[in-house]
Amino acid sequence: MAAKELSESQEKKQEELEKTTSKDGLFLYDGSLYPAIVCCPETLKILDMFKARRDDVVLVGYAKTGTHWVAQMLTELEAASGKYDEEEMKQRQQKLEELKIDPFLEFGDPEKFERMEKLPSRRIIKTHLIPHKIPRSIFEQKPKMLVLFRNPKDTAVSYYHFSKGMKLIPSEQTWDDFFSDYINGKVCYGAYLDHIIEWNKYIDYENVMFTTYEELKENTTLGLKKIAEFFEFSVTEQDIQTTIEKTSLKAMKDKGNEINRVAAKSLFRKGIVGDWTSLFTEEQSKEMDRRFEEHAAGTKLGKMLKYDIYCKN
Ligand code: A3P
Repeated sequence: MAAKELSESQEKKQEELEKTTSKDGLFLYDGSLYPAIVCCPETLKILDMFKARRDDVVLVGYAKTGTHWVAQMLTELEAASGKYDEEEMKQRQQKLEELKIDPFLEFGDPEKFERMEKLPSRRIIKTHLIPHKIPRSIFEQKPKMLVLFRNPKDTAVSYYHFSKGMKLIPSEQTWDDFFSDYINGKVCYGAYLDHIIEWNKYIDYENVMFTTYEELKENTTLGLKKIAEFFEFSVTEQDIQTTIEKTSLKAMKDKGNEINRVAAKSLFRKGIVGDWTSLFTEEQSKEMDRRFEEHAAGTKLGKMLKYDIYCKN
């Protein structure tokens, strides 16, 4: 790119950045919006410093697709599989706290990547990033990755409530405004449909497993068994049942409330399939249908999302 073009595009980004950061809790970095409350440009700039390990357990999911739920499932399954006794469990937890490792790869301070090297295997790595922004070493080392999706309409509604609750958007922003931003990719992590299109390229990769929020809600036992098998977690039927209990919405909400009531209220909300009908107008629903049909419906991953079942009346 010529220097002039580069500076013009930088100027444009800067203008947009000023528009967004001045009115809400988001900032623009390298063409995508991020939540300023947990992310900073310095960390995003050196994401490639992250060194993946082949035995890492990687969870990728767009915001509001149920990433906290599935991350907790992975934590429980990994712990059961590792057969850690109480003391070992405590030490592992302490290590995480001591090292102040933020829960998602793109969150926190830039020095975290160095600290993450001190974590014992198997580490559970989480991210909301789109493939082309994910640190390169994840694709080089090829650890097993679980990629989570949720129907785009429920994701939008969940995202709206979360953004309001966490004050990521101005208080006067209505659902209609948010919907327009969501559909045009002017929300953190960009347009959800772009994530579907990009991840579809990895659909046949052996180290990548895809699952959906709806599939896990419909048959959690089966979903957990598939996940355990994929990551080669050695767990019993009892471990699966215990994991279900420990990761129920109520259990996670109660635990979340002990740590941060405001965040817990936004993170653990209704936890249902089909809440989109509470906010989508007919026109918005048709607009989403049209965009999905145009960009994602024909892809293998698009078909996996069972759009007609979960997004149509
Ligand atoms: P709703 O807002 O539709 O209720 P994320 O963790 O990616 O931020 O996603 C948040 C969504 O997952 C919220 O959806 C939340 O209620 C739901 N969720 C969180 N924990 C859950 C659980 N244990 N069981 C089912 N859904 C859960």
